[in-house]
Amino acid sequence: MSRTLVVLGGSGDLTGRLLLPSLAQLTALGGPGGDVAVLAVSRQDWDDDAYRGWARDRLAAHAPEVDDGARERLLARLGHVRADVTSPAQLGVALGRAAGTPVVYLALPNTAFLPTLEALAVIGLPAGAQVVVEKPFGRDRADARALNEVLHRLVPERSVFRIDHFLALQTALDVLGLRFANRMVEPVWHAGHVERVDIVFDEALALEGRAGYYDTAGALRDMLQNHLLQLLALVAMEPPHALDDTTLPARKADVLRAVRPPADVARDTLRGRYTAGTVHGRRLPGYAEEAGVDPSRATETYAEFTVTVDDPRWAGVPFRLRTGKALGTDRREIAVHFRPAPGLPFAGRPPEPDVLRLRFDPDGIALELNLNGAGDPYDLERHVLEAPLPPRPLPAYGILLRELLAGDSTLSISDAEAEESWRIVEPVLAAWAAGEVPLLEYPAGSAGPTRPGTADR
Ligand code: BG6
Repeated sequence: MSRTLVVLGGSGDLTGRLLLPSLAQLTALGGPGGDVAVLAVSRQDWDDDAYRGWARDRLAAHAPEVDDGARERLLARLGHVRADVTSPAQLGVALGRAAGTPVVYLALPNTAFLPTLEALAVIGLPAGAQVVVEKPFGRDRADARALNEVLHRLVPERSVFRIDHFLALQTALDVLGLRFANRMVEPVWHAGHVERVDIVFDEALALEGRAGYYDTAGALRDMLQNHLLQLLALVAMEPPHALDDTTLPARKADVLRAVRPPADVARDTLRGRYTAGTVHGRRLPGYAEEAGVDPSRATETYAEFTVTVDDPRWAGVPFRLRTGKALGTDRREIAVHFRPAPGLPFAGRPPEPDVLRLRFDPDGIALELNLNGAGDPYDLERHVLEAPLPPRPLPAYGILLRELLAGDSTLSISDAEAEESWRIVEPVLAAWAAGEVPLLEYPAGSAGPTRPGTADR
């Protein structure tokens, strides 16, 4: 069945920075997605050639490693139509140019999702069509419901692909292999042996010119509501009996339903915003001084909360999720902290409990263990078993495009997951908006905000 990838927002940053480079890499590799026709739709007054010129520049900037042959083959498959994507008439004309079955990708600001889906619902889509929606999926649960309602009028749920590129990160997928393909892992993967789980995504990157989007989103909506809750779902879900588009999203939705939002927002959440500072030798202005930022919005660039998973496996185990921008160290990991070993026969101070770390970019796994040290045979020493993982052959967007173009939505966020994730964060958003939790400041390049009156982070 021939398909055309119809990219709404075809001249946007996401398309130029992530989608076109991933399509170029798929073209170079061959296989699904490697020869799909691409029709870009935007408000630019461009013909196909003008669009190809723009795309050529984007590929030179963001996919320099792709060979000339693959790049030219992709450019030859690109077309462009000018349209206001919220106008059913104009969108209808644009879709009329798509050969075969359309895969309609909303690479748009999230405020444009609903009017665009409404426009698509007016014109309708042919059988077999797919719809791909970027993140964040709305601004709250009511928005997510409204989006789901129109999507369900348009195409069946399994033809919807809600993007969360973290699901295609190698380390996220490694959670599945680690948990379900090793006899020694899953039996200890529960509250009886696990004391706490930290899911940390500290970034040295700052705003990087994204005020237009980020200043109305903030760290909680940008990262915790979607990416980090998805990681929590992979870590905490019950074993799926299959890795397919009904089972995996269903297992994740189940565990998200069991997540209790932070019980006490003042104690269980932390928000912050960076002030001027230096990150890796780069001098940064404070977030409030960045171009395009409206400081009165009090947008957070650091967000943290602790939740529990109210099910028999995880009762009482805190899951701390945190992310921040302009931090001194790129620390991106899922850290599973085990309970102390009982009944130690060793004298002296009890050793640190075991920690399993799944690291992102560079990807790797580290297991911190206690072993007998050299010299005194009964003296314990800390050792780390490190396994760096090979670099990924395809970026996360490349994997998602390959999967969705093959008609497989296993790595999509389901309708239920999207709504549950908003349910979890909404009380935090409301408490922060009401000023119940102070917006703390932290210098760019530091380790993030410190809880008032403590040295805690
Ligand atoms: C994006 C967020 O979805 O994920 C960014 O909008 C964030 O703010 C990024 O920096 C992190 O993912 P990655 O894969 O670029 O490290």
